[in-house]
Amino acid sequence: MTKIAVLGHGVVGSGTVELFLKNKDNINRKNGLDLELGYILDIRDFPGLPYSDKFTKDINDILNDPEVKVVAEVMGGLHPSFEFVKSCLEHGKSVTTSNKELVAAKGAELLKAAKEHDCNFMFEASTGGAIPIIRPLDRCLGGNEIYAIAGILNGTTNFILTKMISDNMAFDDALKMAQELGYAEKDPTADIEGHDACRKICILSSLAFGKHVYPEWVHTEGITKLTLEDSMYAENWGGAVKLIGSVKRFEDGTILPMVRPAFVCNGNQLSYVSDVFNGIMVYGDGFDRIMMYGRGAGKLPTASAVVGDIIDCARQDGTSVSMTWEECSDSSFIKDYTLDEVQMYIRTDGVSENEINALFGEVEYLDRAGRPDSEKAFITPKLRECDIIEKMNKYKNNVLGTIRVLDF
Ligand code: HSE
Repeated sequence: MTKIAVLGHGVVGSGTVELFLKNKDNINRKNGLDLELGYILDIRDFPGLPYSDKFTKDINDILNDPEVKVVAEVMGGLHPSFEFVKSCLEHGKSVTTSNKELVAAKGAELLKAAKEHDCNFMFEASTGGAIPIIRPLDRCLGGNEIYAIAGILNGTTNFILTKMISDNMAFDDALKMAQELGYAEKDPTADIEGHDACRKICILSSLAFGKHVYPEWVHTEGITKLTLEDSMYAENWGGAVKLIGSVKRFEDGTILPMVRPAFVCNGNQLSYVSDVFNGIMVYGDGFDRIMMYGRGAGKLPTASAVVGDIIDCARQDGTSVSMTWEECSDSSFIKDYTLDEVQMYIRTDGVSENEINALFGEVEYLDRAGRPDSEKAFITPKLRECDIIEKMNKYKNNVLGTIRVLDF
């Protein structure tokens, strides 16, 4: 018998136990395994469950039981998750986690610990919820040079934007609903300010380009400054406003990861990704482009990825197959986003078309229902972002909003 342990019995932890117990017989039969639920670690009590006898409050019960080979960390946060995960790896127990904060901050170190102790550290559930993205990027697409990734990586903000735009729901009501559905982080600021998507693009960037990318190196904006007017203009332009986590590689070897709202044109499938769904577009030299799509948050979709990793860890017991990337303390391979050439949507009040044309030459003007005469919204030509900012400096008090246009 091989025991598994689950650290945390919150939304994802309880989903992991539920899915595992429901499908355990099939999982064991199909994979030639003999997995059993050994422990659940939580500081709270959960009486009355069919598996209440499995709870412990002491990580040492798990560390010191040689029958525990696979541990699922689904507690979230950095501490004590990091200490628990590291100890498990040091005891030769493979770990899977849904904790993107942990992987984005400590991924290189934990992958190294797994290699040193002949076990695995897997984190399919950390990015894209149920979507298989980590393993495909590492293995199936591993023969390619990846040159860009762009994705809707946060289910909560995509859900909020969809509810606000399609159902006329107020921001706060949509957020409350996302919390009730178990999509949002404990502190939903991480969702709406873009930090959660930032952690996910760090993980994808580290994996795709082989060096650890830390969240503090990534320019990050959330959805709090977006307005309904912006989305009306995006629709008029032929697209939608989405919170996009992206990274692209330049000829000189630098990369540009960032998280920002973007105008996404209807020619890009990401513009149609709505509700809690995530979509991730990967571009590479051999395969051109691949789009992956699925539920990006929620109890059972996230548990699906955790349980998949539990099975993989159990099948790979005694070997270390998980990927690795370089620890990196120098951020000079991250490009300054203001030097990147972009087209921007700009919404102004009290600036004339003559003044706008004098700054940018040809621009594309957009319209919306109810637009006041004094309001002008337009798409700039492709220029370095710092040059666009400089040109608009004279009218900075007239700018109501700026959003980049996704061009890949
Ligand atoms: N809060 C996250 C989201 C959960 O909404 O995408 C899944 O990582």
